Amino acid sequence: MTELDRSELREVSAAVLAVTAHLTVREVLQTIVTSARRLLGADYAALGVPDQAGSFAEFVVDGVSEEQWAAIGPLPRQHGLLGVLLSDPHPVRLGNIQEHPRFEGWPAAHPALTGFIGMPITDGGDILGGLYLANKPGGFTAADEELLRLLAAHAAIALVNARLYERGRELSIMEERNRIARELHDAISQKLFSLRLTAEAAATLLERDPARAASALGTVRQLAAEATGELHAIVSGLLPPELTGDGMDLALRKHVELLDRVHGAAFTFASTPLPRLRPAQQEAVYRIAQEALHNAVRHAHASTVDVRLTGLGALVVLRVADDGAGFDPGEAGQASRRLGLASMRERARSAGGRLTIDSGPGGTTVKLEVPADA
Ligand SMILES: Nc1ncnc2c1ncn2[C@@H]1O[C@H](COP(=O)(O)OP(=O)(O)OP(=O)(O)O)[C@@H](O)[C@H]1O
Ligand SMILES: [Mg+2]
Repeated sequence: MTELDRSELREVSAAVLAVTAHLTVREVLQTIVTSARRLLGADYAALGVPDQAGSFAEFVVDGVSEEQWAAIGPLPRQHGLLGVLLSDPHPVRLGNIQEHPRFEGWPAAHPALTGFIGMPITDGGDILGGLYLANKPGGFTAADEELLRLLAAHAAIALVNARLYERGRELSIMEERNRIARELHDAISQKLFSLRLTAEAAATLLERDPARAASALGTVRQLAAEATGELHAIVSGLLPPELTGDGMDLALRKHVELLDRVHGAAFTFASTPLPRLRPAQQEAVYRIAQEALHNAVRHAHASTVDVRLTGLGALVVLRVADDGAGFDPGEAGQASRRLGLASMRERARSAGGRLTIDSGPGGTTVKLEVPADA
C-alpha cells in the first residue's frame, strides 16, 4: 500500500471516528461511503446492507444527486453482480464492469459505469454488506483496494454494533413484556376472579336476602377499587398499593380476611414479629402468598386454608397450607402456559429466597423462606 498523505489520513480518521461517535448507523455508513469516494477519487460510491427479502435494508450512495437518485427508481435487488458480491467474501476489481460474466445492466437513469471495485463487508464468515465504487480516471489500483478494505472493516464494526444494540433493545422489551404479563397475572386476575364470584353471589342473593346482597356489592366495589389500584401500580412500576400503606403482614392479613368473606372455605392467618425485608422482598412474599391462596381457591377445593408468617432469626417464613385435593408439583411445573407456579419460583429466586411445594392427597403446603439482609 502506498503511504497515505495528510488529507487522506484525515479522511480515514474521520471515517473511523464516525464509527465511535454516537451517530445513527445510517450516518456512519454515509460517512464511510463519502470518505471512500473521496479517498479513492471515484465518481460514484455506494454501500448496501441486504435484507431478508432480496432487497437492501440500507443503501447509501455518494456522487449521485437527489434528482438522479430519484430518477433511477427503486432500490437494486440482490441479483447479478451485486448478488455475487453478497455471497462471495472476496473483493472484485474490474477495468470495465460490463465485462463481468454476471453483469446484468442497470436502470435507464443510472449513470454509466466503467471501472469498478466491490468490497464485501464481513464479520467473521458473515457477509454483512458491500462497498461499491465506480469510475476512477485511470482505473482502480491494488492500493485503492487495500484502502477500501480498511473502510469496509470499519463499516463492519458499525453494523455489528448496531445489531448488538438492536438485540439488546429487543431483549429488554421482551423482559418488560414478561414482567407485565406476570404482574397482571399475579395482581389482577385473582382480584377479578374474586370479583366475579362475589358479583354472582350478590345476584343470587338479591331477592332472597337484600341485606347480604348489599354487603356483597360492597365487596364488589372494594375489589374493583383494589384492581384499579393494582393496575395503576403495575403501569407505573410501583409497589403494590397494599404494601406501601400497611406493611406486608397486615396487608396479607387483610387479604386473607377478604378471601374468607368471599369464598366458601375457612381462611385463617397468624403471624409473629418479623425481621425487616427489603421492599422488593416484601413484594415477593406478598405475591407468592396471593398466588398460593388463589391456587388453593381455584384448584384445591379445600375446606380450610391456613396462612402463617413467621420470623425465625433473620429468616421470614411464609407457609400457605390447604387441605384440598393436592397435585404433582413436578408435573404441573412443566405445563408451559401456566404462569402461577413459574411466577412464584421466579419471585422467590429474585428475592434470594427458597420455595418448596409439598403436595399430596392430604393437601398442599407452599413454603417460602427469605433471608433479611443484615
Ligand atoms: N393448591 C393447589 N391444589 C391443587 N392443585 C394445585 C394447587 N396449586 C396448583 N395446582 C395445580 O397446578 C397447576 C399449575 O398451577 P399454576 O398456578 O402454575 O397455574 P394455574 O393456576 O392453573 O393458572 P394461572 O397461570 O392462572 O396461575 C394448576 O393448574 C393446578 O392443577
Ligand atoms: Mg395459579
